[in-house]
Amino acid sequence: MTQSADRSANAPLSVQYEESEDLGSNTSANATLGDVIAVRYDRRDLLKGLLGCTAIAATVSPVALMVAEEARAQGANTTPSFNFKEIAAGSDERHHVAEGYDADILIRWGDAVVPGAPAFDPLGQTGAAQAKQFGYNNDFLGFAPIDGKSDHGLLVVNHEYTNEELMFPKLGRQDTTAKFAGMTKELAEVEMMAHGGSVIEIRRQNGKWGVVPNSTFARRITADTPMVVTGPAAGHDLMKTNADPTGTKVLGMLNNCAGAMTPWGTWLTCEENFNGYFWGKAEGANEKALKRYGAPGNWYNWGQYFDRFDVAKEPNEVNRFGWVVEIDPFDPNSVPKKRTALGRFKHEGAGNIVNRDGRFVVYSGDDERFDYVYKFVSEGTVNTTNRAANADLLDKGTLYVAKYNADGTGNWLPLVHGQGPLTAANGFPDQATVLVQARLAADALGATKMDRPEDIDVNPRNGKAYLMLTNNSRRRPEQVDAANPRADNKFGHIIEMEPDGGDHAALAFKWNILVRCGDPSVAAVGATFHPNTTKDGWFGMPDNCAVDNAGRLWVSTDGNSPAATGRADGVWAMETDGAARGTSKLFFRCPNGAEMCGPYFTPDDETFFVAVQHPGEADDDAKEPATFEKPSTRWPDFKDGMPPRPSVIAITKRGGGKIG
Ligand code: FEO
Ligand code: CA
Ligand code: CA
Repeated sequence: MTQSADRSANAPLSVQYEESEDLGSNTSANATLGDVIAVRYDRRDLLKGLLGCTAIAATVSPVALMVAEEARAQGANTTPSFNFKEIAAGSDERHHVAEGYDADILIRWGDAVVPGAPAFDPLGQTGAAQAKQFGYNNDFLGFAPIDGKSDHGLLVVNHEYTNEELMFPKLGRQDTTAKFAGMTKELAEVEMMAHGGSVIEIRRQNGKWGVVPNSTFARRITADTPMVVTGPAAGHDLMKTNADPTGTKVLGMLNNCAGAMTPWGTWLTCEENFNGYFWGKAEGANEKALKRYGAPGNWYNWGQYFDRFDVAKEPNEVNRFGWVVEIDPFDPNSVPKKRTALGRFKHEGAGNIVNRDGRFVVYSGDDERFDYVYKFVSEGTVNTTNRAANADLLDKGTLYVAKYNADGTGNWLPLVHGQGPLTAANGFPDQATVLVQARLAADALGATKMDRPEDIDVNPRNGKAYLMLTNNSRRRPEQVDAANPRADNKFGHIIEMEPDGGDHAALAFKWNILVRCGDPSVAAVGATFHPNTTKDGWFGMPDNCAVDNAGRLWVSTDGNSPAATGRADGVWAMETDGAARGTSKLFFRCPNGAEMCGPYFTPDDETFFVAVQHPGEADDDAKEPATFEKPSTRWPDFKDGMPPRPSVIAITKRGGGKIG
């Protein structure tokens, strides 16, 4: 979701940032690892176990299964360059992909997901129908192979948010300015059912992907799906509500943006701008914490019909969102788990790697201007032969927040109750509070305020993590630092991070800026793409990313437009190694108004799934808002009366072969 164009335009966002700034840093906090003692695996045994294991190998790619150090040894300095003919940057009503590739629509908003789903009827939408159909605004995509195959598997999809002005006829934009006058309870229910996620079974036959109808795996997850809270904050007072005095049972997940798959084949789906779903007046003891999270955001009026979304009536409901949710897509009856050990913030994604000692490491950005980068290191190790043994791996471990030093080094500061400033005297009486109010804890630790940390993906071949920083137009000249070097950073940048000694559990890392984005032909922009990058090859606003099995980085964007950069959002292939480092090439571009989400490869790299989100929105400088009646495109159906539909695309090479 673009912060310049999204519903947060109504919210007084500047207030929370100003108040969160300049909290003291405490350098003593990074002195110890705490009580976390890993059960140390012998590296060779682990790798043997991983590669020899069929139970887990059936669900993930070979590289994802390799332990970091081993993959690094195998893949060092052998990253091949991209080999495709770049497309022209620009913007029109259609999508475009590099010559020689097919980009086919796999599933659209409103298409059937679970058995019994009615046909999509844009003029007769109901919550009951939407609960069985593909949701709105597809974001993260993950592919879990069935029997290790790259032509048959489960596709998991996040449905991040809804655009009522494009979804519903004769409605227009509904927000605080419009006093939500047209938003009936029935429409709010459609919106709630259009959120969450989908699991679909897909198969490739005769070269073409299709959805397997009436699959027993098919599942819709919505804003109402029962979930459980696990980890240190489960059952804590901050998690209790009138409807759930146990503090362990939540209905639904909200604003699920990016995510990741685990090596054991589960789906990590990340709650991002959850604050926007709450309204009401924030008062009393909760006020400081609510403000730091931008709640209530008043982007939706669900609180008018459902008390739990009103912070005055249910002050703790908001604490039950903003988590990483783990879901087993292979069991449609499994209860999704909100993993509180990973902390509560606006999680963009959950890029992960099996560390060389077997522990599981998850990187996650908090997507807000001036917010932070985190990582979680599990206490236990990944069990490579017994999938079920990893069921609660994410409930115990240590959460850290990043501090980027000016000399290119960095430190991971532990969010551990009792360490450094995280004491009862400072408002952190226990570990649950540290995790529920992770932003406040990270403020106290003196973490580095970043330019909207979005996706982070680890290249398992060289152990480097790539961090997308999308933009930050509010950074003032006196606020620049080495890791965020531009004031009024309109176009974002990408940081490369390498853990010390190749150990992702290490407390120190090294970092450098891979590229500062924007138009390299305008000196004032200060972009640093490699000179070989063409006029089509540069981009702004990096958001999501994927690393293919050859270790190559692919970047998708959110916020390019004719007004901002003279181009639509899309996917760019980015060289990270050797003399070509910093060269980027445009591979795919979105139709008008859309952002690019969900880049994900099948294990054989022969299919590249991408998600086209909010097609048909108006450009930033449009004179009129886009609506159901007047979208900026009717992609992908191009039929009168049919609104634009967020859709998933499968990209394949004509005649077969690896992508790019
Ligand atoms: Fe949902 Fe940070 O984009
Ligand atoms: Ca986005
Ligand atoms: Ca995103």
